[in-house]
Amino acid sequence: MYKIAVLASGNGSNLEAILEAIESGRIQNARVTIVISDQEKAYALTRAQKHRIPSAVFRKAEYPSRESYDRALINYLQAKQIDLVVLAGFMRLVTPDFVAAFPNRIMNIHPSLLPAFPGRRGVADALAYGVKVTGCTVHFVDEGMDTGPIILQKALAVREDDTVASLQERIHRLEHVLYPKAIDLWVRGKIKIEGRRCYLEPEETGLA
Ligand code: GAR
Repeated sequence: MYKIAVLASGNGSNLEAILEAIESGRIQNARVTIVISDQEKAYALTRAQKHRIPSAVFRKAEYPSRESYDRALINYLQAKQIDLVVLAGFMRLVTPDFVAAFPNRIMNIHPSLLPAFPGRRGVADALAYGVKVTGCTVHFVDEGMDTGPIILQKALAVREDDTVASLQERIHRLEHVLYPKAIDLWVRGKIKIEGRRCYLEPEETGLA
C-alpha cells in the first residue's frame, strides 16, 4: 500500500477529489496518510479531518529559511515513510533538497497548459493574455517553477464571457478528474520517465 502525503495551502478541492477517488476504489493500493499545510486556516485541513486523515501545519514563520523549512518537512515525510508527495494548491516553491529527497515522487497540478502561464496566477494570466484554449497540467516537480516532466494535460476552450472565476471553476472540474488519474497511473507503475518526457501506455491515458 503506497503512502501519499498531500500538501495544500488553501481550499483543498483537489485533495477532496483524490480522497474520493481512493474511497470509491478508483485509486487502489494507495492511501493519503497525512495532509500538510503551511496555512493553519486552510480549508484543506477541515476536509482532512472530515475524512479522518491526520494533518499537520508547518508555519513559515517558525523557520529561518526555506531550506530549514523544507529540511523539517523532508524529515517529517521520511519518518512517515511517504512514497508519493502530492502538491495540491501548495503555494510554496520547494527547494532542490526537497526535490532530491523524493526523486520523481513529487507531483503538482497547475491550472494552465504548461509551459504557458506558470506561477501563482495561471488562470488570470491566461485570460488576460487572451488565449482561446487553456486547461490544466499534472507534472512531476523539479527544481524549477512548474517546469518538471508533464504527466497529463487536459484542455478547454475559453468562452467570450469568461471571468477568472468562471474559467477557474471549469479548470477545477478538469483538475478533479486529471489529478486522481495521474496518481492512479503512478500507483500502478504506468509512467515511464525519460529525461523530461513521461511515457504512458496509450490506453492508459483515456483522454479524448
Ligand atoms: C488549483 O487550481 C491548482 O491548480 C492551483 O491551485 C488550485 C488549488 O485549488 N495551483 C497552482 O496555481 C500552483 N501554481 P484547491 O485548493 O481547491 O485544490
